[in-house]
Amino acid sequence: MEYAIEIKNLSKEYETGFLKKKRVRALDDLTLNVAPGQIFGFLGGNGAGKTTTIKTLMRLQFPTEGSARILGHDIADVSMHARIGYCPENPYFYDYLTAREVMDYLGELFGMNRSTRSSRTEELLTAVGLEEKDWKKQLRKYSKGMLQRVGLAQSLINDPEIVFLDEPMSGLDPVGRREIRELIAGLRAKGKTVFMSTHILSDIEALCDEVAILRRGKLAASGRLDDLLMSDEASRALEVNIHGVAAESIREQIEFIAGASIEPRPNGAVIQILDESDIDAVLTITRESGGRLASIHPVKQSLEELFVKETS
Ligand SMILES: Nc1ncnc2c1ncn2[C@@H]1O[C@H](COP(=O)(O)OP(=O)(O)OP(=O)(O)O)[C@@H](O)[C@H]1O
Ligand SMILES: [Mg+2]
Repeated sequence: MEYAIEIKNLSKEYETGFLKKKRVRALDDLTLNVAPGQIFGFLGGNGAGKTTTIKTLMRLQFPTEGSARILGHDIADVSMHARIGYCPENPYFYDYLTAREVMDYLGELFGMNRSTRSSRTEELLTAVGLEEKDWKKQLRKYSKGMLQRVGLAQSLINDPEIVFLDEPMSGLDPVGRREIRELIAGLRAKGKTVFMSTHILSDIEALCDEVAILRRGKLAASGRLDDLLMSDEASRALEVNIHGVAAESIREQIEFIAGASIEPRPNGAVIQILDESDIDAVLTITRESGGRLASIHPVKQSLEELFVKETS
């Protein structure tokens, strides 16, 4: 099996308005392949069609056109659901049950025996950062972030090969986000495939191998995050941060280097050069004027710039 997920010309129209006469094309001709064993980020602004795509893949609604395969099975073949997990955008539970009961119930649906259910429940509720004292609380007494954690735990009850997470970090505080981030990274380490939608750019940078960006239902960009962020013209340019020297005192010398530029910073300056071969010259100038090197890194388009460009 080459791809974990294969989406082919998938479209979804909703009928809305009075007598359902208006049609909204929420997803428009999406073609996308996701290789196994990676964390795939599914991005796009509000209303771009991320949830529509995931719900269609989960067979919670039917596509208008196109098809998709998960683990080699057509999405119409729901038997494959035994091997996948899904955490919806706003997980909804029967909230008079406790977290433990919800997990146990779902484990039973998957045909797990009592002792497996119990150990798996404990392992997962711990992994999503829910304290043991809360396991016996009814979910109606849970906070939004706690419910999000139960949502994530339940999506993993059957030890799925692929897990679909719709905004898994929403409602979590910074500590919670870090815990969930580690949990998701751990899934990749176990060889699982994660397909997640999110708005949180720092999580995408920390986690995702590849991304796809949707704009008004259409694919706007896709590929390895590193490649997308590396804009063509700037691909070999470097940014050199130096401390302890004022930009103005070395500006003339720096600008003597072809294509180089310098800008002041509170504790020094930032110098852009076109190529690695100019580093030595910059370092010599810096040292001779009493400054020191703080960092060197490739000039990349920020994820925020990419996101704004591809979603607006
Ligand atoms: N059940 C529905 N009936 C009619 N229109 C819908 C329905 N669900 C979604 N839409 C519309 O489809 C479009 C895509 O919505 P969708 O929920 O997939 O976006 P999203 O990318 O998940 O956004 P968000 O980031 O806000 O969660 C929107 O224009 C939305 O109004
Ligand atoms: Mg959504």
